[in-house]
Amino acid sequence: MIKIEYLTAASVLAFDLSDLGNEVRRCAEAGVDWIHFDVMDGRFVEQITYGAPVLKWVRKATQLPIDAHLMVEDPTKQIEFFAQAGADIIDIHIESECDTAACLKRIRELGKRSALAIKPNTPVEEAFRYLPLCDMLLVMTVEPGYGGQGFMADMLPKVTAAREYADKNGLKKLDIQVDGGINTETAASAKKAGANVLVAGTGLIKAPDMRAANSALKGTL
Ligand code: DX5
Ligand code: ZN
Repeated sequence: MIKIEYLTAASVLAFDLSDLGNEVRRCAEAGVDWIHFDVMDGRFVEQITYGAPVLKWVRKATQLPIDAHLMVEDPTKQIEFFAQAGADIIDIHIESECDTAACLKRIRELGKRSALAIKPNTPVEEAFRYLPLCDMLLVMTVEPGYGGQGFMADMLPKVTAAREYADKNGLKKLDIQVDGGINTETAASAKKAGANVLVAGTGLIKAPDMRAANSALKGTL
């Protein structure tokens, strides 16, 4: 049996931003695999967070891969900025107002890993035709916009359907990421459903012992 390597991604949304560099280093020391950088534009979702100029500072503070989750109305131009700022993985939403296939291709052309994200109300089947252009599918397990929300267990069948589709269609290397309300318990059910990348804001950053929380998410504790 092939052993699946589970990866964790810590969400910057839960950081103490007055201490950004240290927060990033704390994640690396705890064994976190990626930094998840949530970008909100006040249009696609109601809040505004931060953009590529801030990602540059995260890049300066760490060697860890940076995963930029673009919750923006039109990511077309932002892809260029984030690639230049040093993102390694760029996630666009299928619900964004852009040419999805062209954006995914452009991300790869820039030498980055491409990811497609779907909101809770979007059927996973809508993402299938784009998967050959993706290195990762992001199944949102909360409504995007805020950290600290409750996990939507009814998203798990979407994860399973995506994993089955990927396996059947020769997309063995596709990462499937879950984002929102991930803690030790919900991570276990997401992994069982077929996810291999776990984003956690609250579950990692606010944990009393981040290293233990990270190991628990990965299932190595
Ligand atoms: C929500 C963001 C998530 C969020 C996760 O819109 O995409 O990445 O930061 O936070 P938790 O883990 O606290 O639900
Ligand atoms: Zn996110």
